[in-house]
Amino acid sequence: MPQRRKIAAGNWKMNGLADSLGEARAIAAQHPAPGVDIVLCPPATLLARMRDLLAGSAVDLGGQDCHMAEGGAHTGDISAPMLADAGARHVIVGHSERRTDHGETDTQVAAKAQAAWAAGLGAIICLGETLSERDSGRTLDVVAAQLTGSLPPGAASGNTVVAYEPVWAIGTGRTPTPEEIASVHGFLRARLPDPGIRLVYGGSVNAANAAAIFAIADVDGALVGGASLRAADFMPIVQALERA
Ligand code: PGA
Repeated sequence: MPQRRKIAAGNWKMNGLADSLGEARAIAAQHPAPGVDIVLCPPATLLARMRDLLAGSAVDLGGQDCHMAEGGAHTGDISAPMLADAGARHVIVGHSERRTDHGETDTQVAAKAQAAWAAGLGAIICLGETLSERDSGRTLDVVAAQLTGSLPPGAASGNTVVAYEPVWAIGTGRTPTPEEIASVHGFLRARLPDPGIRLVYGGSVNAANAAAIFAIADVDGALVGGASLRAADFMPIVQALERA
């Protein structure tokens, strides 16, 4: 079995002003030589300042979305080369909030992942079922279709992380049972084009539930929203992952 280095990624979403930079500084200071990869995805407005702040630290930066084009007339959008230029090494694509708020399709998500790769970024590709899809027993069909549609040809361990994020678990404080997570992760793992691709769980991960989630087979880490905004909340999650 290939060794997959675990990864804890924090998605700050549309949160964070200059006075939040101290949290990133604290996260880096608390993990000078982490046994796992740590990625922070602040709003694009903070990327360059966070890059300067984290220079020489073990914390990598990521964007939260990118446009599929390299540049051009797309007011308000951010391209993958711009994210790389600002210091990002990764970018989240296909987050359920993008799929919902902006109607993003699997095809668009795959194009964004390809744009990320072309700019030298790793893509953190998100997928997950809604509550009604789960309640109607369609979870595995939905995630299988999203995986097929959202991962471009060429997805491999060096350029892609897949995040399984049940929509109903995001920001709700609800999480699937360990059996439910294990079932989806095992199902996805068997369908990944490269066994080295890391498969992380996202959705209401916090200090209290992290160790139990990380004990589940085929969970290589987490994509963390709310609990990544403060070092005091994120640190125990990283520590639980290091111990897993
Ligand atoms: P949450 O968000 O941890 O706040 O539930 C996770 C995510 O959206 O990536």
